[in-house]
Amino acid sequence: MDNNGNANANSPSPLERAGERCILITGGAGFIGSHVVRLFVNKYPDYTIVNLDKLTYAGNLENLRDIEHKTNYKFIKGDIVDSDFIHQLFDTYKFSAVIHLAAESHVDRSIASPMEFVTTNIIGTVNLLNAARQLWKPALDTVDSSANLFYHISTDEVYGTLGEHGLFTEKTSYDPHSPYSASKASSDHMVRSYADTYGLPAVITNCSNNYGPFHFPEKLIPLALNNIKNNKSIPVYGKGENIRDWLFVEDHAKAIDLVFHKGKAGQTYNIGGHNEWKNIDLIKLLCSIMDKKLNRTPGTSAKLITFVTDRAGHDLRYAIDASKIKKELGWVPSVRFEEGLEKTVDWYLANESWLNNVTSGNYKQYYEKQYAQR
Ligand code: NAD
Ligand code: TYD
Repeated sequence: MDNNGNANANSPSPLERAGERCILITGGAGFIGSHVVRLFVNKYPDYTIVNLDKLTYAGNLENLRDIEHKTNYKFIKGDIVDSDFIHQLFDTYKFSAVIHLAAESHVDRSIASPMEFVTTNIIGTVNLLNAARQLWKPALDTVDSSANLFYHISTDEVYGTLGEHGLFTEKTSYDPHSPYSASKASSDHMVRSYADTYGLPAVITNCSNNYGPFHFPEKLIPLALNNIKNNKSIPVYGKGENIRDWLFVEDHAKAIDLVFHKGKAGQTYNIGGHNEWKNIDLIKLLCSIMDKKLNRTPGTSAKLITFVTDRAGHDLRYAIDASKIKKELGWVPSVRFEEGLEKTVDWYLANESWLNNVTSGNYKQYYEKQYAQR
């Protein structure tokens, strides 16, 4: 296959390299996916990592510039909603495992335009499940299928909202409220149904809000940083009293690595930061960090805070009980929030051109230059 997903006799077949595992990572050009791809490509030189991404507005190959020339990495541009293409891809690469991150991921966009969330998040996931099932069927029917794994990356938003107390556990009933969370809940159910009905070895993790480098500046933290930097107002929905549980993205990537290698098929693991923040308190903290970094008089950036109309169906509070993954796999977050925020702020200040490319749309030219004409 070439980088547009077309069959190409000259493409190196990862399977020609004996003893390697060929792993499909979907959505690897996005925020979390790029951290997962980087970790796997660097940590596992014996694996071939195929990054399949449609390069929607959220997909940016600049996120992977540092690893794009590694011999165990291959990027393919393609749409998980296109079932013929997906079957052809599985047929060509004979993936032994899938780590599925590709999704439409922004709640506000899902409110404005739910259908894209239905097609990518639900139909796209089912296409991948069908292709994996077909490829792995002989192994599923006859032998131990532990060589194969369909790993679905999901969100804590499927559980709905918490009141002031309590935490989401793996046993919390699903109660999604936004089209985004409803589409993710639906895809989770489809993954479990393929595990239960067809014996597909599958694992799901539901993670809390991530933050860190390469986060698209439509989400709260990078949007606030970008606006503070440019002296633009910071929109706070409602009274800013909604609570999110924030996790540094590299900690999420490490948890994914651990679950991929040590998690049990058929299981669900919650991943969270034990780090709840009211939106308004978080934004005030970001303002004070930015005042220091930009040598502004204390209180300058906080003047940009603007309360705006609340998001429809806005979930009040998310908070994860991550005791199962701690007890069974030994995972705990390693980056303290102050440290992670500092790293994030420094990254955004040091990577002005990334931010400018993303906000101007210029990042799409990177794909054209690097891949389209090869
Ligand atoms: P993102 O929006 O930054 O990236 C999504 C990626 O998927 C992009 O590169 C995009 O081009 C690609 N994509 C979208 N539609 C596609 C399609 N039809 N075919 C192929 N590729 C397509 O998202 P993210 O924040 O990195 O989230 C990644 C995954 O993690 C999602 O499944 C999301 O639900 C889940 N998740 C995110 C968070 C969070 O805080 N961001 C928390 C928990 C779980
Ligand atoms: P967001 O980053 O969109 O993540 P999610 O909706 O998946 O949790 O939003 C985080 C919180 O910040 C959420 O409570 C909505 C709120 N928010 C604002 O107050 N202003 C904004 O401009 C954005 C994008 C979000």
